[in-house]
Amino acid sequence: AHGELADQRGRALRDLRISVTDKCNFRCNYCMPKEIFDKDYAYLPHSALLSFEEITRLARQFVARGVQKIRLTGGEPLLRKHVERLVEQLASLRTPEGKSLDLTLTTNGSLLAKKARALKDAGLQRVTVSLDALDDTVFRQMNDVDFPVGDVLQGIEAARSVGLGPIKINMVVKRGTNDHQILPMAKFFRGGGLILRIIEYMDVGATNGWRMDEVLPSADVIARLQTELPLVPLQASQPGETAQRWGYADAHGRFDPSLGEVGVISSVTQAFCSDCNRARLSTEGQLYLCLFAGLGYDLRSLLRGNATDADLANAIGHIWQGRSDRYSELRSAQVPDTGAARKRVEMSYIGG
Ligand code: GTP
Ligand code: 5AD
Ligand code: SF4
Ligand code: SF4
Repeated sequence: AHGELADQRGRALRDLRISVTDKCNFRCNYCMPKEIFDKDYAYLPHSALLSFEEITRLARQFVARGVQKIRLTGGEPLLRKHVERLVEQLASLRTPEGKSLDLTLTTNGSLLAKKARALKDAGLQRVTVSLDALDDTVFRQMNDVDFPVGDVLQGIEAARSVGLGPIKINMVVKRGTNDHQILPMAKFFRGGGLILRIIEYMDVGATNGWRMDEVLPSADVIARLQTELPLVPLQASQPGETAQRWGYADAHGRFDPSLGEVGVISSVTQAFCSDCNRARLSTEGQLYLCLFAGLGYDLRSLLRGNATDADLANAIGHIWQGRSDRYSELRSAQVPDTGAARKRVEMSYIGG
């Protein structure tokens, strides 16, 4: 009964990212630095969290308004108790055309060996695993809780063996910290059926002490890969995709599907706001329209008030139609951000 939604820049609503906890068992320096996220840090109280029923009720209305892909994030989503029950509820949702959703989850992989089977049985289709290094010393340093890389690799293997796929591997690169791991990572994953994506370190949140000189531009990443692993550009697989895709080439310089692909996500040097179709729901039910937003829209009050499903769908529609966010584009154009003085939301609160 609804027409196609478009925001102020003509962008559709397709992708809903739902954060299910603001906690994580890692302390990656670019996301949850130890000095800030210490034992005194005020995480959300349990009563603030949306229940699985509340999340599913909201998600159903998002799907009615155009969402086709749902990603669970955190913090670390596998820390949320019985998260597979939420997966089961979300897996039952259908688009107005009767199709099931692209249902996926971003995890640090630490609990994946334990949880992969239950997630698959609950109806999860695929997972994306964050992995910043193969070298154990570098990996332990980056997660800053001395977590061994071998356990994450076992988690990835478990996900693969139960058929959660295609699996993507997200690597955030900080120049001088793990950029020497780019080639080893690419060689390790090339030809193995997993898709490595190398991500520019972003100025998200307000606590990670971001500096431009620690960003390795994706153009440099591609140049470094090309020195040993020839690449050819591939077409985007869906509109609004975050990653630029590159295929590994054979000896004749042609894409060799058996070698697979690698992606770069360049939100700093090549903003991709122009077709951004992503909305983000925080753990406590605030709707954010941009990763760099300072303020969300309180959907939990609606849920816990007397709102009908139609009220929720209307609210989602109105909020999306008013959207004009394009933070990364403005940053690259060096337009002063009028919201700069505002507190920016943390990545661990809103999800990747
Ligand atoms: P796929 O459907 O698997 O391709 O997922 P995705 O790329 O949409 O999601 P994923 O969580 O894997 O995103 C990878 C990384 O891209 C995130 O960790 C962020 O660093 C970055 N990213 C994702 N969405 C956005 C966005 O809307 N804006 C910006 N600036 N960065 C984003
Ligand atoms: N810059 C880029 N990516 C980030 N992530 C977390 N913080 C940052 C940042 N500052 C990524 C994680 C994970 C996803 C949830 O977001 O590595 O892949
Ligand atoms: Fe945890 Fe992921 Fe943030 Fe690292 S990047 S602290 S694993 S939420
Ligand atoms: Fe979308 Fe905001 Fe990221 Fe641009 S900066 S791609 S508008 S989330």
